Parts: sequence; C-alpha cells; structure tokens
Amino acid sequence: MRRTLVAGNWKMNASRAQTETLLSGIRDAGDLPCDVAVFPPYPYLSQAVEAAGATVSVGAQNCADQTSGAYTGEVACDMLSDIGASMVIIGHSERRTLYGETDDVVLRKTRLAIDCGLTAVVCVGETLEQRKSGNAEAVVKTQLSLLLSELSDTDWQSVVIAYEPVWAIGTGETATPEQAQAVHAHIRALLAARNESLAASTRLLYGGSVKAANAAELFSQQDIDGGHVGGASLDVAEFLGICRA
Ligand code: PGA
Repeated sequence: MRRTLVAGNWKMNASRAQTETLLSGIRDAGDLPCDVAVFPPYPYLSQAVEAAGATVSVGAQNCADQTSGAYTGEVACDMLSDIGASMVIIGHSERRTLYGETDDVVLRKTRLAIDCGLTAVVCVGETLEQRKSGNAEAVVKTQLSLLLSELSDTDWQSVVIAYEPVWAIGTGETATPEQAQAVHAHIRALLAARNESLAASTRLLYGGSVKAANAAELFSQQDIDGGHVGGASLDVAEFLGICRA
C-alpha cells in the first residue's frame, strides 16, 4: 500500500519566524490523512526538525555529491542525517537547469543519500518544448535510466520519484490530471519492467502548481501518490488544504 505523501518545497524562501509559523500551523492541524514532509532552506533545517514533532518529516532541498572534505559551500548527506533530517530532494529542475546537475550527479547524490539513511525524492520532468515535440515520456525515461540500472531493489525502498513538468513549475499552469497520470503510469511501467513489487511500492508524486483547488483531482489518479508543492507550501491554509485533499 502506498501512503499519500505531500512534500512542501520551500525553495529559497522563509525566515526563522516563518519556519516557526509554518511548522506550528501544520502541527496544530493534528492528524492529517497523508504523510507530510517539509523542505526548508539549510539554515532552518535544525529549527524545523525541532518544531516538526514526530509526524512531519524534514528534508533538505539538495545535498553534495561527495562525502566530506574541501567542497566549499556544500552540505553532505551525513550532516543532514546528523541533524535529524530524514529526506532530501535531488535533481529538482531548478538544480538541473540553473546549476547544471546531470543524471550522473543525480545518481551519485541519490546513492549518498540512501547510504546515509535518507529518503531521496528524485525529480524528473520535461520542458514545454520537449512536451510539444512529443518527447515527455522519453525525457523522463532517460532521466530515470541510471537510477533504474544502478540502484539495488533495497536502495529503491528509499526513493520517491517526483514528476514535475518544467512548464508547470511556478507558472500557475498545472498538468491536467490525465497528462500527469499518463506520465506517472509510464514511470510505474518502467519500474515494473525491472521489478513488479518495486513498481507497486514506490511513491510517485506530481509537482507543478499544485494547489488546494486542484490537488484532489490530481491525487485521485491511479498512479499519483501525492504532491511535490512549491509556492503553495508557503501558506499554511493552502498547504493543509492540499494535505486534506
Ligand atoms: P510550484 O513548485 O508548486 O511552485 O509550481 C513545485 C516544485 O518546484 O517543486
């Protein structure tokens, strides 16, 4: 059984005060019908871990592709586990586009995250051009191919895939539930070609302008197991609306 997961990616937003407001808002909502995770910027991770309590997971938005040493400005996965974070986003389209992260880097980071006991939320998704030329599924397949060939079945138990069409991120334009479901089904088929039980157990999140108003329809699709939420995760009421959907 796959339990719905709603992941709030705060990106480079928030402050100490907002971290407190957002976490206490989620805490005060009591029992939610899904797993909930928040991904604050690095400086607020420890604060978030303390404020989150037992029911909300806290993760980082990125990690280094090395274990330790002379990598100025980088943060290693074992530092994240050391402060109580349990998840990390890897290969977000903003990292791929703005910071040149390749599928190879994504694989290295994913491996390190898993080795440090973290759940890796690996992001994939096509650009508008790639979708228009009919290549959405092929792009996603390429982005997943190294993970599929290199990670063990046990490794995969610590992986969540977030399908985020680049054209839907932060644009207000959401993929239709049918468009999203089609790519999710494709991803699940890729997993199934490797191992049926892996396909049945791996959570696939949709990301890209998820809001309280469109979450229920997206999450009701057969292969969509929750949401990867950017902008709407910075508003407690909106985020809780998505969790309740
Ligand atoms: P958005 O971002 O919800 O603001 O579109 C999604 C994401 O980048 O994870």
